[in-house]
Amino acid sequence: MIRTSAVLLGLAVLAAPAFAEPGPAEGGALYDVRCKMCHSGGIPTAPAQDKLALLDNDKIVDVLANPTGMMASAVGGLSDEDRRNIAVYLTGKTMPAKGDLPEVKAN
Ligand code: HEC
Repeated sequence: MIRTSAVLLGLAVLAAPAFAEPGPAEGGALYDVRCKMCHSGGIPTAPAQDKLALLDNDKIVDVLANPTGMMASAVGGLSDEDRRNIAVYLTGKTMPAKGDLPEVKAN
């Protein structure tokens, strides 16, 4: 009995960070619903995901903060954290803390 509760508690502790901590996983989920339809073949002029992966984190954040062209109508409503999480998801490179924004660690 005691053993069962300990196992359950262990699982709860393991599972918690996936929901509590923002990061590239959250960025990936956003990419899937907000970006993929254009950047994975939907729009021929949109660079594919493997091309986006070669950009700097700062460049991606900047494009999302100051979108032009087709992106302008497509990427509204993202927070600074969202933009950084998406950038790290795409590049696989850790982004250092900036002002109030925490470091986003690459997986
Ligand atoms: C409606 C289609 C569409 C959506 C949705 C979209 N994009 Fe784009 N994106 C484009 C197109 C097309 C370009 C190429 C430049 C242009 O035509 O404006 C582009 C350019 C970019 C660039 C610049 C690439 C470079 O080399 O300069 C980045 C970075 C980018 N998109 C990231 C994203 C991310 C991240 C999302 C999701 C949050 C997203 N885009 C959603 C169509 C889209």
